[in-house]
Amino acid sequence: MQEINASIPVDKRLWEEDIAASRAHAAMISAAGIITADDAARIDAGLAQIAGEFAANGVPVDLALEDIHMTVESRLKEIIGEPAGRLHTARSRNDQVATDFRLWVRTACARIDAGLKAIQAALIARAEEHADSIMPGFTHLQVAQPVTLGHHLLAYVEMFGRDRGRFADAAKRLNESPLGAAALAGTSFPLDRNATAAALGFDRPMANSIDAVSDRDFALEFCASASIAAIHLSRLAEEVVIWASQPFGFVQLPDAWSTGSSIMPQKRNPDAAELVRGRAGLLLGAFQRLSVIVKGLPLTYSKDLQDDKESVFGAFDALALSLAAMTGMVETLVFRTDRMRALAASGFSTATDLADWLVREAGVPFRDAHHIVGACVKRSEELGVELSALPPAEAAAIHAAVTPAALAALTVEASVASRTSYGGTAPERVRQAIAAARAALEE
Ligand code: ARG
Repeated sequence: MQEINASIPVDKRLWEEDIAASRAHAAMISAAGIITADDAARIDAGLAQIAGEFAANGVPVDLALEDIHMTVESRLKEIIGEPAGRLHTARSRNDQVATDFRLWVRTACARIDAGLKAIQAALIARAEEHADSIMPGFTHLQVAQPVTLGHHLLAYVEMFGRDRGRFADAAKRLNESPLGAAALAGTSFPLDRNATAAALGFDRPMANSIDAVSDRDFALEFCASASIAAIHLSRLAEEVVIWASQPFGFVQLPDAWSTGSSIMPQKRNPDAAELVRGRAGLLLGAFQRLSVIVKGLPLTYSKDLQDDKESVFGAFDALALSLAAMTGMVETLVFRTDRMRALAASGFSTATDLADWLVREAGVPFRDAHHIVGACVKRSEELGVELSALPPAEAAAIHAAVTPAALAALTVEASVASRTSYGGTAPERVRQAIAAARAALEE
């Protein structure tokens, strides 16, 4: 029973929040005349001492004390004796754990935000270096159209920006205090829930005591937001893995972010990227696990809820580590721009540019232009040449509008420079986007 029932090995991570919430509660019940000022002072001093002890030596794990709440209270009893027993007046572990956990998740949101901001800064710096570097853009992992590397990297800055928005929303929505809901029904003591809410930095007390002790939306939102961020990191990690492979050769991993093989001396494996990609499984699993725990629970508290913390702590740890690892990789990847540039022209990547040219310069309807260019691609393929190298006579035989001037417009540089629409890949647009991203980061 003790082994399945105890949560202290996991919830000891809540010790700072638990002590802060207890100090706020003690001060409030003293101000409300529920306990004496003298008892409150001794409780507060005892709790401060415990905080010092735990900070210095860690939290002692004794399964007999079940959880962090009992661990703190039992130590308080050892230190101050009888008044320790008055701390739990007008409170239950149900509102206590909900309060502690909200405080913890609030801090976790801020820490993840800092990690997301750091990877954004790293991506922006690399994007600036490569605002003009040309690489193949892909759809279906087939070369589609040339793009700039800076533009590609900035796509991730957008993703991580939305992730930050999700964590900010979650932190704002969770910021209501369950404290004072007691076991589930509220209490007959004259509590000042506004006072404890304010003391702990909450915007207000939660309005319904039954909801206050039952709700775990905030933990679900954290795990959901973390899952989406992990999916983004996994896509970036997957690109690093592909780009670092020899057939691509787009990047070289620095030694610090690669590992060797025990048998093949030449190997430089992208292990960290692969682990980030795989770790997304843990994060998605955390959301899944918590959803399943909560979905069938009648109101209010059931002990199933005790397992909520493992999901959130695990998700936090995995995401914080993945962010740090990907940031380090982004900062130090060596981009093989020559290789990217060479492959950017492959696969007739400027075929769309020829179609656009025929529309713009020769008044050909786009559908016809598409057809004409298809024939040009086919003929180039047969001759084994790039589109821009199609002999003028061959081009003219397909359609009179496919002049040498048209073919000259098909360099990847011209293609990229022409994509000046808002949000497009032209270097001048990329530089504007970098400035905007920097400004947003500094806000
Ligand atoms: N350790 C418990 C948890 O994390 C604290 C709440 C216990 N409440 C109860 N009614 N047994 O959920």
